[in-house]
Amino acid sequence: MADSVFANVVRAPEDPILGVTVAYNKDQSPVKLNLGVGAYRTEEGKPLVLNVVRKAEQLLVNDPSRVKEYLPITGLADFNKLSAKLILGANSPAIQENRVTTVQCLSGTGSLRVGGEFLAKHYHEKTIYIPLPTWGNHPKIFTLAGLSVKTYRYYDPNTRGLDFSGLLEDLGNAPSGAIVLLHACAHNPTGVDPTSDQWEQIRQLMRSKGLLPFFDSAYQGFASGNLDSDAGSVRMFVADGGECVAAQSYAKNMGLYGERVGALSIVCKSADVAARVESQLKLVIRPMYSNPPLHGASIVANILKDGELYTEWTIEHFIYLLTGTPGDWSHIVKQIGMFTFTGLNTNQVAFMTKEYHVYMTSDGRISMAGLSLKTIPHLADAIHAAVTNVV
Ligand SMILES: Cc1ncc(COP(=O)(O)O)c(C=O)c1O
Repeated sequence: MADSVFANVVRAPEDPILGVTVAYNKDQSPVKLNLGVGAYRTEEGKPLVLNVVRKAEQLLVNDPSRVKEYLPITGLADFNKLSAKLILGANSPAIQENRVTTVQCLSGTGSLRVGGEFLAKHYHEKTIYIPLPTWGNHPKIFTLAGLSVKTYRYYDPNTRGLDFSGLLEDLGNAPSGAIVLLHACAHNPTGVDPTSDQWEQIRQLMRSKGLLPFFDSAYQGFASGNLDSDAGSVRMFVADGGECVAAQSYAKNMGLYGERVGALSIVCKSADVAARVESQLKLVIRPMYSNPPLHGASIVANILKDGELYTEWTIEHFIYLLTGTPGDWSHIVKQIGMFTFTGLNTNQVAFMTKEYHVYMTSDGRISMAGLSLKTIPHLADAIHAAVTNVV
């Protein structure tokens, strides 16, 4: 052992979000509850596969013409077209004018990474501004992609709302041309989104300074329950004719977490630019993972292209949004999307995990999707004990 060539490798810390699941899996308590990772659960706390996904998979299995050939570097063409349509809208002029290039990537994370590497190689400004706070993986993804990461103010803990003046001030002070990461809707981890008036002001400020919007859309359909409304922020920026980048994930809104299905779209000023951009995206992807996986993208394409399955998806998805809404915590009920800040501190979180087997990230963020009518009383007891016993 002592003479291993890797003997001086130090143990890395667990990922702050996925590490919560590791600790949860080790816990033997029958009342344990995992609110760390954003994944929908049945009333029994079991992982949930949407019926519409099962149906789409059955169609694939029953189709003998389906083979396992490699996809192109850019992924499944149908999937890409349908994904662009989902985020930009069925009648988007940018799509009609062929000004959008869409490539299938490895879920949201992979789409952000490919987009980040493309920008680091081909865009003149290497700084990306991310909201404070944001999803913990953002700074790591963009740093490794070769961008320099800075933050802009987003959340005000005193009001548990948007720090809109701080946001405008910080983006106003950003160098012209800088990239700005925007959560398209259902901001993670705060659950706080700008209103549409505020989005419009953000748009005007960003366009006046030539800041490049990079949307992360991981929760389309989760903020309002309506897929089109939730893409409103992105569509506002596309409607002005300017350019933007958007990463989409189907992990949450189709429950395809482990299938790793996502898309990166770059909206350009002309079809010619879009074609050249796509040719360079291929050079980013090819040495990274060659080409994306087939199965998940085929499920999504089957659902999005079939009127009946599409309707079924929107209805089924909306029903799950309504489950597990806790009663009297007005700030939690008001939050948008899958996650909310409870306002609990690190010590209170540690107490709840130790004494009540409730798992969440140490900043007090919980995934509402992990709750069910059955587990809410246990969570309420745990919060009550934490708040009354731990400062
Ligand atoms: C804001 C945000 N972006 C992107 C992702 C990417 O997730 P995935 O790579 O599983 O699609 C997540 C997942 O939690 C997220 O919360």
